[in-house]
Parts: sequence; structure tokens; C-alpha cells
Amino acid sequence: MTVESAAQAAYLVAALLFILALAGLSKHETAKTGNTYGMAGMAVALVATVALAIDRDVSNTGLMLIGVAMVVGAAIGLWRARVVEMTGMPELIAMLHSFVGLAAVLVGWNGYLAVEGGADKAEVAILTAQGTLGIHHAEVFIGVFIGAVTFTGSIVAWGKLSARFSSKPLMLPGKNALNIGALVAFAALTVWFCITPQLWLLVVVTVVALLLGWHLVASIGGGDMPVVVSMLNSYSGWAAAASGFLLENDLLIVTGALVGSSGAYLSYIMCRAMNRSFISVIAGGFGIEAGPAEDKDYGEHREVNAEQAAELLKEAKSVIITPGYGMAVAQAQYGVADLTRKLRANGATVRFGIHPVAGRLPGHMNVLLAEAKVPYDIVLEMDEINDDFPDTDVVLVIGANDTVNPAAEDDPTSPIAGMPVLKVWNASNVIIFKRSMASGYAGVQNPLFFRENSAMLFGDAKDRVEDIIRAL
Ligand code: TAP
Repeated sequence: MTVESAAQAAYLVAALLFILALAGLSKHETAKTGNTYGMAGMAVALVATVALAIDRDVSNTGLMLIGVAMVVGAAIGLWRARVVEMTGMPELIAMLHSFVGLAAVLVGWNGYLAVEGGADKAEVAILTAQGTLGIHHAEVFIGVFIGAVTFTGSIVAWGKLSARFSSKPLMLPGKNALNIGALVAFAALTVWFCITPQLWLLVVVTVVALLLGWHLVASIGGGDMPVVVSMLNSYSGWAAAASGFLLENDLLIVTGALVGSSGAYLSYIMCRAMNRSFISVIAGGFGIEAGPAEDKDYGEHREVNAEQAAELLKEAKSVIITPGYGMAVAQAQYGVADLTRKLRANGATVRFGIHPVAGRLPGHMNVLLAEAKVPYDIVLEMDEINDDFPDTDVVLVIGANDTVNPAAEDDPTSPIAGMPVLKVWNASNVIIFKRSMASGYAGVQNPLFFRENSAMLFGDAKDRVEDIIRAL
């Protein structure tokens, strides 16, 4: 067997391992195994690619560069993955997507310089003989476009998720016309480039795509960011697939298509869960003209301390806990699990209500609660528990805000209008754990805090939960 055919066989094995990885990642119980399949697939792919490079007589300098890139990449990857906090995961993912986008741009430019630029005469002769030169032009152009949109879009997503940029949507005048204009320009330039591939056209499309990626994600409000992250995941897949065509690498095409289509499907499911139009979100908030709601005066809020909260909980027969991003920040899940055990021992029914986008990544709350050994069967999805709030004595809102905001239902002008929320206000008492009256990720005020049956328990969620446990 030649190295070439062995490598192709290895690519097939790697592709199967990636499919198994995706299947595994679809459930909590199998997610770890899924990850292991993914790592094994990547290891097989790397070995096969290096073997191919050696077989194809890549120069010693080339091999050395591959080695250095692998060592540096692996070291940075290991270091980041070890130190990243669970709450920092989405921005790390956004940052990794930007690398895929940048790589696709570089591969596209390299393809241009080699073929259209005439640096690799042998490759030009092969493509001309095959009659596929025109296809190469299209691959270069489309690959650079998708890659550049992914690159800047992911940088903005990283900035918004890590609070380096404002999470408010950018509202440029005529923003829809700008997006559509950029897409029309891309289509026209692609045709032009395929007829006469000139350097300046590639420069123009790169700049247009970089600006479009930036604008698309900057126009999206904080509440819709989860969908954006999975959408950029999808774009990064298509960018990788485009590079696969250019590099004639089947595994890259298969993997890119897997990531692209699964990311697109996840975005679609999340849009449905959040009652958002898929087209509107992927087109950068297309059609969402309502700006952030103005500051209204909601009146006074009520405060309680840990002892008063403990008194209320002692009497409660049914308790629902709705955790959010603040529980992750405070690392309060262990205390919350302890509190749950105490309340159940006291005879109360305790359940958890999990909003599909609570926290900063899909399944964030479920992972934290599982880590703290909260039994699966008392952790319910929003739809399973939403009708039970009227029969609930006490709701503990632990570091959640947007996901329990009644404005989503009552205020059609709110940026989160229409998003399904946990209807905690229907319970007899609601205790909200947070440090201040600050707004949540979407940047909107929460009228829940001012309702008669609501009370704020200020402070770090972990400290306050521990105070309650002590008071109990
Ligand atoms: P948020 O609306 O972001 O609210 C979290 C609250 O936690 C804040 O109001 C904050 O108030 C409080 N908090 C922060 N640190 C705390 C601490 N140490 N102790 C106590 N409280 C603390 O969270 P949510 O309700 O979970 O909603 C999630 C939001 O993120 C949604 O808008 C969603 O669309 C968006 N998002 C979700 C995802 C995914 S995939 N889940 C990804 C990106 C964005 P203080 O500052 O006053 O303490």
C-alpha cells in the first residue's frame, strides 16, 4: 500500500471518528466518550497529514515549520484549555472560530499566489490540463470571503462575550441595506474574478468580507448571542470545507461540512427555543428595528437577608431553583446542591428549572449541577416546569436575570420580546440572588425585581447560599 492510499484510508477512519464524536456529544452521559472520539480522530488526521507531507517530498524547512507549528499550537491549546473557566468557554470557542476563519483566508490567498499569481507553474499546468482552473478561481474567492466573515465576526463575538465590547446591538442607519449590498457586491465580484482573476478583486472582497463579518455580529443584541456563537461555529465549518476544496483534502471537506451543517442545525434549534427568526439572526438582526427599551421607572424593590430567606424556606413545601450565569460566576453550585439536600430532608419538594440559554453556553447549568451531584431527575427543562410556578411557595433565582424577565412577555418594545422565559413571578414568593440592581447580559432592566412578591437578596450568590444553609 502506498503512503497516499494509507493516508486516504486514515482520513476515512478520522471522518468516522468525527461523526461518532458528534453523536456522543449530543447527550450528557456520552459527551466524554464523544470528546475522546474527536481527539482520536484529530490525532489520526494529524499523523496522516504529516505522513503525506513527507511522502510528497516537502522540503526539510517545510517539515520543520510543520513541526514547530504543531508544537506551538499544541502548547497554546493545552494551556488555554487547562486554565479556562467554565464561564469563559464561549469566548474561547469564539476565539478558536476566528482562527479557522483566518486560516481559510490565508489558504485562499496562498492558493491565489500559487495558481492565479503564477508562482506554482506545475499546479497551473495540471489545472489547465484538467480544465478546472475556473473552479480554482471560485474556490479561492469564496473561501476567502467565508473565512474573512468568520474571522471578524468571531472576534466581535469574543469581545462581546468577554465584555470587552458592548453587548448592545450596533444600529447603523440602513444596516440591512449595508448587509445586502455587501452580499450583492460579493456575488458580482465572484463572477468578475472567475472571468479575470485579478489581485485587486481579491483585496476588495477580503476587505468587504472583513467589514461584513464585523457588522453582522456587532448588529446582534446580547440576548441573541448564543445563536451567534453556534452560527459562527457553522461558518467556521464552511470556511474549513472551502479550504478543503482548495487543498484537495477530502477530510477537511467532510469535517468542514459536518461542523457547518451541525452548527447551522443547532442555530436553528436555538432560534426556535428562543422564538427568534433564524433568517433574522443569521442576517445580523435583519428586520429587528426596535432599539433597546428606554429606562422606565418601575418603583421600589424589596430586600431580604439570608435569615429571612431561611425562615421562608423552612415553611416552604415546594421550592423551584432557577439558576443563571451568576451561579456559574459565583461557583455557587456546590452550596446550591447542599441547600437542596437540606430542604428535601426538611420535607420540601425541590426542583430546578433550566432555561435553554441560561448561562453562557448551551447546557451550562446542567453541567454545573451535574458536577455538584444534583440528581438528574429534579433538574427540569423550562417547558416541563413553567406551568408549575403558580403552585410553588418559593422560587430561588440564583444569578439569573434575562431568563426570568417578564418584559419578554409583557413588553413588545423590549429587545427580548417574544423570548420564552421562566415564569417565576407566578410563584407565591421569589427571592433573587444577585449583587446589585444591574441588568443581565441583554442589557435590559428586569421588572421582576419590583414585583410585590419579589425580594432581592444582595451579595455573592455562593456567600448568600452558605449564609442560608447556616441559618437553616
Ligand atoms: P444574565 O441575564 O446574564 O444575568 C446574570 C445575573 O447574574 C446578572 O444580573 C448578575 O447581576 C448576576 N451575577 C453575576 N455574578 C454574580 C455573583 N457572583 N453572585 C450573584 N449574582 C451574580 O444570565 P441568565 O439569566 O443566565 O441569562 C443568560 C443570558 O446570556 C441571556 O441573555 C442569553 O441569551 C445570554 N447568552 C447565553 C448563552 C447560552 S448559549 N446560554 C451564550 C451567550 C449569551 P449582578 O451583576 O447584579 O450580580
